[in-house]
Order: sequence, then structure tokens, then C-alpha cells
Amino acid sequence: MSNDGVDTGRRMLLIGATAAVGAVGVVGAAVPFVRSWNPSAEAKAAGAPVEVDISQVQPGQRIVVKWRGKPVWILHRTPDQLSTLKKLDSRLRDPNCDDPQQPSYAKNEWRSIKPEYLVMVGICTHLGCSPMYVPEQGKVEASWLGGFFCPCHGSKYDLAGRVYSGMPAPKNMEVPPYSYTSPSVVLIGVDKEHPA
Ligand code: FES
Repeated sequence: MSNDGVDTGRRMLLIGATAAVGAVGVVGAAVPFVRSWNPSAEAKAAGAPVEVDISQVQPGQRIVVKWRGKPVWILHRTPDQLSTLKKLDSRLRDPNCDDPQQPSYAKNEWRSIKPEYLVMVGICTHLGCSPMYVPEQGKVEASWLGGFFCPCHGSKYDLAGRVYSGMPAPKNMEVPPYSYTSPSVVLIGVDKEHPA
């Protein structure tokens, strides 16, 4: 699949973006203060959770959705792709995700709630480029088992977004807060089991 795997046909709903309407008749001097502490409708929309129906994402396919201005990737990993993860531990900088920046469900072999679905912010942890999804084995190098390759300075990540050792990128790619509202609907931005 190409690196431009944005499927604009997917259902993507912004929720919780309705701006509260201020009460009529608030005494004059208080209004500017209240307004300065309440986010605008645009700001609320920009930070709102994003609900994504993943039922049509085919095995091996990655889709991209926008959340808080960031590209969030959802990759439906095949059984073969999942089987590569264990083989790479010795080549990775932080295979067990011991760095503390990740939600608890990123601290497993798959870095995800459901093994087959990777949900991850698609931004390189070096200087912020967007890595390419390169699922073909042997493509980046002879021992390549599939993963993500950043064209800016050559950082390599596996199919769970774990960075290889000795790369410019210092950390694994970010797993955002998310949860499932049904077996096939992901809510990006809300971690129901571990609310902030
Ligand atoms: S931004 Fe990805 S390797 Fe530098």
C-alpha cells in the first residue's frame, strides 16, 4: 500500500465539539474574564476525540485520521506481521516500552489494546517527519521484516512503532490515548480505562 494511505471515505466523527452558549445577561465586567478561560469552538473541535469505524480496514492496510492536528495511523496487522515483532527485540532500543511516556496498553508485545490493530501517532520522534509504511520484507535492508522508515534521517521502526537501536530517533513512536466504543469503533483521544 502507498504511504499516502489516507482513506477519506472512512467514517470519522468529531464528537463533543459543541460549544457551550454563554448565559445571556452576565454582568459586564465578568464576561471578558470568563471568555478568556473558555476555549473557542474551534479549539474544542481541534481537541475533540475522534471516532473511527475500523470494520472496513483490511488486513495489512493502514489508514490515517487526524486528531489534534496530528496524523494518527490505524494499521490492521496480519498474523504474519504480528509474528515479526518477537523476532526484533534484540535490535530495538526500548523493546518493552519502558520509557514512561506511553499508556499502559502500549507496554505489551503489540503496543496496542487489540493485537491486530495498531493505533499510533504517525510522527517520527526525531524531528517530526512522517515515516513511510514499508510492509514488504527485505525492502529497506536485507533483514527488514516490515515496519516504518523515516526518509528524513533514516530512522527505522518496527510494525509496533518501536525504534531500532542506533537511530537518530530517541524514542518509540507515540501511542495516543484511545479506547473502543464497540468491537469495531475506536475512540481516539479518550482512554476510558485510564482516564487522565
Ligand atoms: S525526523 Fe525522522 S529520522 Fe529525523
